Amino acid sequence: MEFKGLLLAGGKGTRLRPLTHTRAKQLIPIAGKPNLFYALEDLLEAGIRDIGVILSPETGDEVRSALGDGSHWGVKLTYIVQEAPLGIAHAVRTAQDFLADSPFVLYLGDNLLSGGIQHLVEEYRQTRPEAIVLLTPVEDPRAFGVVVLDQAGQVVQLLEKPKEPPSNLALVGVYLFSPKIHPIIQRLKPSSRGEYEITEAIQGLVDAGLRVVAHQVRGWWKDTGKPEDLLDANRLALTSVVRRVEGVLEEAQVVGEVVIEPGARLVRSTVRGPAYVGAGALIEDSFIGPYTAIGKGARVIASEVEYSILMDEAQVHALPYRLDSSILGQGVVVDGQGHARRHTLELVLGDRSRVRL
Ligand code: DAU
Repeated sequence: MEFKGLLLAGGKGTRLRPLTHTRAKQLIPIAGKPNLFYALEDLLEAGIRDIGVILSPETGDEVRSALGDGSHWGVKLTYIVQEAPLGIAHAVRTAQDFLADSPFVLYLGDNLLSGGIQHLVEEYRQTRPEAIVLLTPVEDPRAFGVVVLDQAGQVVQLLEKPKEPPSNLALVGVYLFSPKIHPIIQRLKPSSRGEYEITEAIQGLVDAGLRVVAHQVRGWWKDTGKPEDLLDANRLALTSVVRRVEGVLEEAQVVGEVVIEPGARLVRSTVRGPAYVGAGALIEDSFIGPYTAIGKGARVIASEVEYSILMDEAQVHALPYRLDSSILGQGVVVDGQGHARRHTLELVLGDRSRVRL
């Protein structure tokens, strides 16, 4: 029984604007690595090497060039364009020829799981249910698919983003399915928000008396749908970083679990981990605080940055404030013009923005 993988990298990403005006939300770097790579590596770790990737017409090229032909990971990638973001179940339907009669893991490209999926694929192979879904209690379930279990822990009801959630158990964006899901998806009608909902398809399995197994996630899970979630995912991913200093240090200090990639230069600066500094970045007369990831070729000059993501080639010069809880898109320039540091600044800026302070 050969498992396939289906990575979803389509959709619109409207909740991450302005960061996603110009880029696929699944490629936003988390601890220096695109979100989507973590999902792909989870599939790989579970032994899945035949992987379909759902693309949107707008950001498809960018995703293709980031993943290439998959040979970097030793996987076979099949790109499938979904003409419009009509829902997760619609994406599965679009991939039906690729999935054929294989069981598969559906992995939403903006989800991050700390525990991987190997144990789930193993369990599926041994017990052969029609679906395995993952759940986790959340504070505000209205933003998610929500599941009701009976006393025996069996799935009774699934609802997509209910206004009055009947439980606090959210559906995680990683699902294992048998091919029995396909005829159910074929019969789905669009929901009130106009999408073909995977939640309704799973309800279809339950209603047909087919076996749907639900597990609580091990470790942490993050849907990186909003800027604050990206920062939190970055924090969580950085907690498992192991110290590796390959760049050049000139009168600089590196404290704790920090990755400094080759070609990065730290001059008269301190980086306090957990933190990540990408290849070719320059950190000069600056302080980089915990839970910060600095992209490739970025520059931080005479500034303090903490709990933030600076994407590739972003630049921060002589800031009068400590930059905190901020996300700077690719090539952003923030120029403080050399005033003394006084306050903290929180920014979420899209690619190539320019700010003069
Ligand atoms: O993250 C978990 C949640 O994901 C679940 O609790 C919900 O039940 C599920 O519907 C989904 O909700 P979201 O509103 O977060 O889904 P979103 O529209 O953000 O899409 C998730 C991913 O799938 C994202 O990477 C974009 C991609 N996608 C989405 C749609 C609607 C596609 O590739 N095609 C699509 O048509």
